[in-house]
Amino acid sequence: MTALLLGANGQLGRHLRRRMSGLVTCARHNADFTCDLGDAAALDKVLGTVRPAIIINAAAWTAVDDAEDHRDAAFRLNRDVPAQLAAWCRDHDALLVHYSTDYVFSGNPGRAWREDDPVSPESVYGASKLAGEQAITASTCRALVLRTAWVYSALPGNFLSAIIKRAGQGGGLRVVSDQVGSPTWAGTLAAATGVLLDRLGSQVDRPSLLHVAGKGAMSWYELASQAVHMAAERGIITSPVAVEPITSDQWPQKAKRPQWSVLDGSRYEQMTGESLPDALAALAECLDQWKDAAC
Ligand SMILES: NC(=O)c1ccc[n+]([C@@H]2O[C@H](COP(=O)([O-])OP(=O)(O)OC[C@H]3O[C@@H](n4cnc5c(N)ncnc54)[C@H](OP(=O)(O)O)[C@@H]3O)[C@@H](O)[C@H]2O)c1
Repeated sequence: MTALLLGANGQLGRHLRRRMSGLVTCARHNADFTCDLGDAAALDKVLGTVRPAIIINAAAWTAVDDAEDHRDAAFRLNRDVPAQLAAWCRDHDALLVHYSTDYVFSGNPGRAWREDDPVSPESVYGASKLAGEQAITASTCRALVLRTAWVYSALPGNFLSAIIKRAGQGGGLRVVSDQVGSPTWAGTLAAATGVLLDRLGSQVDRPSLLHVAGKGAMSWYELASQAVHMAAERGIITSPVAVEPITSDQWPQKAKRPQWSVLDGSRYEQMTGESLPDALAALAECLDQWKDAAC
């Protein structure tokens, strides 16, 4: 059974490749098939050649602030590509695995967000990812849509690696403490994807939405503080640095982020019989592998 992985060189894509053997990879560079997903005809050609039974779409426009100025490009990647994949899967009885985001939410229901809570994105990125979810649902294809949050890994370009780099240079850190979420190691998300495919893949007969994220709630400030402490314990940085809590107002960003991004993963846990890892335990696991991890 051929499984095609799009976005093979991103945080999640690399962890999926580590975890699953035999994936046919597609990316802009360094993959079995090279394709810019901005080109619908090129994607169609890859699909027609590979004829996958499973498509795992780890590609996305993930530059949240840039999306505010590049709406069309963000919607192409985050709405039109999933729509194209979903139509192909429907027409070929293939299974689509796709990822979405906590940024579809705003406000605070006083508990972790559930899959059927009302959505109301406040950023172009969030709106484009929601449009992708909706396109998959409308297609009625066989699909698992996994909403996740605050994804990090050892790769450069995410919150955790930026914090560790800065702390390693001895600089103090000012980190937002009034946004709370569910930090998720890309390894956790890849493992959960594997569990879902192994246990439920053949039973999926329609679009199914699941929350998959690290368990627990913490602010960016708490995440940074824990990361600095754990990184120093492991010798990744020579000594801890000061971490100062600040408010979102003190760290202006182009795109508005949710204040409350905590995802309830109990539907995933009930469906698979597997617990999602505690966010701090996953952070420790990520940092344990930091020095020799390719991702
Ligand atoms: N990162 C987060 O905090 C977060 C939070 C919630 C949900 N998610 C979702 O989780 C999924 C995985 O995210 P991630 O953190 O692994 O993202 P990532 O590291 O930014 O990877 C995204 C991948 O998409 C590829 N891509 C972007 N534009 C492309 C194009 N035009 N043609 C071909 N490939 C293109 C990138 O390719 P290149 O390698 O060539 O740049 C990259 O490999 C995404 O659906 C994302 O929306 C992420």
